[in-house]
Amino acid sequence: MDDDIQAGASGAGRAARRDDAVRAAVEQGLLGPGSPIVGLLDVTGIRESAAELRAAFDAVVAPGTPVLHAFAVKATPLVPVLRLLRDEGVGAEVASPGELALARAAGVPPAMTVLDSPAKTPSELREALALGIAVNADNPQELERIDGLVGSAASRSPLGIRVNPQIGGGSIEATSTATATSKFGVALRDEGAREWVVQACLDRPWLTRLHAHTGSQGIPLSLMARGVAETYALAEEINRRAGRRQIDTLDIGGGLPVNFASDATTPTYAQYARVLAEEVPGLFDERYGLVTEFGRSLLAKHGTVVARVEYTKRAGGRPVGVTHAGVQVATRTVYAPELWPLRIAAYDSKGRPKEGPAVVQDVAGPACFSGDLLAEGCALPLLEQGDYAAALDTGAYYFAHHYGYNSLVRPAVYGFWPEGRFAVVREAQTVQEVVAESGGAQVDALTESP
Ligand SMILES: Cc1ncc(COP(=O)(O)O)c(C=O)c1O
Repeated sequence: MDDDIQAGASGAGRAARRDDAVRAAVEQGLLGPGSPIVGLLDVTGIRESAAELRAAFDAVVAPGTPVLHAFAVKATPLVPVLRLLRDEGVGAEVASPGELALARAAGVPPAMTVLDSPAKTPSELREALALGIAVNADNPQELERIDGLVGSAASRSPLGIRVNPQIGGGSIEATSTATATSKFGVALRDEGAREWVVQACLDRPWLTRLHAHTGSQGIPLSLMARGVAETYALAEEINRRAGRRQIDTLDIGGGLPVNFASDATTPTYAQYARVLAEEVPGLFDERYGLVTEFGRSLLAKHGTVVARVEYTKRAGGRPVGVTHAGVQVATRTVYAPELWPLRIAAYDSKGRPKEGPAVVQDVAGPACFSGDLLAEGCALPLLEQGDYAAALDTGAYYFAHHYGYNSLVRPAVYGFWPEGRFAVVREAQTVQEVVAESGGAQVDALTESP
């Protein structure tokens, strides 16, 4: 099937599954006056995306090429999600001790785990090497630390260097990792840096990988491919000068952008893999193993946060629906709405897609500042008290990234299957837990001097 048709077909299926899940969540009382906000994850859709990812790269690599798809845990740090992906043959890219612990709790084996953070402590490095997890050194100082560890204990960890090809950014500065001044990796175009990387590898036969992540959201495929091409060219240079195939694996990071404007999946993994095969054919001719680290593109379109409309009102002539979803579950959108707009779907009090003429209205959150809006001036059937507003495409970097403003509790997250079947992925936080996590046990800490 042609990519566009396939993207549209999977989008339509996804929207239908989502509508069924919202209705079933209301019918079953997962959503209602007492539980006015939930996150929903489409298990079928997540499995489909994982399969699309595998198939896209299987179609371009030479047979027998070792390929590891490692999900960027930061995108959706939920243990059952990591387990589901592991079930689909997808490992984990971790960037903190917490993320590593989540991956281990999900049973992701060390051989399917990659550690990438820019600020690894000596003990984190020691643990990773003891476990045999792949590590990409971010900078010369970190490589010195790894030198010490490699010299003192045997490790199965594949080791590499992260580079920044400095090919430029995309439309969102905060998620552009390959700008001239990005904080990640060795900035290849800085004076002497490229030669330093080459020499560092020649001096250390155990450095076998290069890593570059030139995403994320807002970067065109052509720019991502250029980042991979530069990294490949560097690997070729190192191997030529080493006189052997020292660099045997390229980790190309993640960063495939997500379409937040409709249900269609675009661009697709297949498109990206084809662009790479055209621009960097040598990457796929069996001389290099491949690691990918996609996050947003695997999960975003499979998550929906659904919130009850508690009140409706008018301000300055504009209708406002006051819901329970705002900055605590859509932090990026609330603070930078022009960069991270979300689509909102309206459902009636029974969880059915709401009918009626589109009316320009604000969809507000529960937090106590005026910018706490899921969407400003969006055209929807007029929301009424007791309806539900759903923020779509929020499966990555949204409700899994709770922001504790106003001590709003973390909502429950449910995975769903067709025919109204749900599983708890994460229980809702209780207010007792909020108190406990806010120093509740240390109530006298500041009034009784030590
Ligand atoms: C090193 C690394 N790999 C992968 C990712 C995942 O990017 P995305 O979610 O855009 O695919 C990130 C995101 O920040 C990252 O820093």
